[in-house]
Amino acid sequence: MSIAHGIRTLGVLGAGQMGLGIAFVSAVHARVPVLLHDRAPAQIKSGLALMDKLLAKDVAKGRLSAEEAKEARDRVTVVDQEKGFKGFRDVDMVVEAVSENLSLKQTIFRSLSTELSPSTILASNTSSISITKIAAATIPEGKTASDAEGKQSASRVVGLHFFNPVPVMKLVELISALQTSSETLDRARAFAVACGKEVTTSQDVPGFVANALLMPFINEAIMCLEKGTATRDDIDKTLRLGMNHPMGPLQLADFIGLDTCLAIQQTLYAGTGDSKYRPSILLERMVDAQWLGKKSGKGFYDYPHIGATAEI
Ligand code: 3HC
Repeated sequence: MSIAHGIRTLGVLGAGQMGLGIAFVSAVHARVPVLLHDRAPAQIKSGLALMDKLLAKDVAKGRLSAEEAKEARDRVTVVDQEKGFKGFRDVDMVVEAVSENLSLKQTIFRSLSTELSPSTILASNTSSISITKIAAATIPEGKTASDAEGKQSASRVVGLHFFNPVPVMKLVELISALQTSSETLDRARAFAVACGKEVTTSQDVPGFVANALLMPFINEAIMCLEKGTATRDDIDKTLRLGMNHPMGPLQLADFIGLDTCLAIQQTLYAGTGDSKYRPSILLERMVDAQWLGKKSGKGFYDYPHIGATAEI
């Protein structure tokens, strides 16, 4: 018997490329009202402009009628900045999609657990950070992990890892913290399916399955470039034409964001102590230089017309 997700309203925290994509598939496919929040109003503005473009493309391609697109757009509203997380008070699930930083995520989850009902599911779109560590941050002040309140609070935390671009990529990785309840897992899985995604499950290990495999591959490609094994174009061409990858690894790194790639590599390295995960010096230096890939206009490739604006 399939489990109902029971999400009547969703909160999405972070309106960057991932958060916006999650808001999009939730409004269009799961047809759930979405409350979007980002502390940067400019991010919300460019995110919503991207959503308008994506909806217009779906209408132009006949995948949505103009009326369906309007209904989907109307499902997305922005949380009043003044309200902050209090704006999520009536949602049944929040999906957090902020940058890959453990202490930032712990602070956010601590605040969400204070502001919201203990039954609200708290999902993280983290690419690699421990869901167990994030869940532990939700234990109320003065309570312990074995108190009823502590257990209940941590049991509604789950990893829901979408892939970029979210409207296109068919996968969601579902990650259970040690504390996650089976009800939380079932409802989160059902929600991802309602968003039109296939779901795989992973243990809570650094990088889960996807990034434990993808990031060493990308890092190795960067090391090839660093060592002068081949040119940028030949490294990417080898994987595109030799292995039928849609993008070469250096282009993919730019697409994901070099800061995100570095943060994931660092989590893998710190979490395992295995030198095979040591981030390449070139990747570190490029992030030092704020060459963050496509979103910043420069990475392994140049993107002269692209900033952090709405584009497909
Ligand atoms: N947002 C929404 N839709 C997008 C998009 C974006 N940013 N970029 C492309 N698309 C859509 C296009 O509009 C087009 O849609 P259509 O079929 O309706 O016209 C479709 O994707 C195909 O786009 P294009 O024809 O322009 O280009 P490609 O055929 O080259 O496809 C691609 C683009 C889908 C991005 C393809 O190159 C690809 O699959 N690349 C690999 C992506 C990948 O590996 N993603 C996973 C990254 S890892 C990750 O996200 C995990 C994280 O934890 C790091």
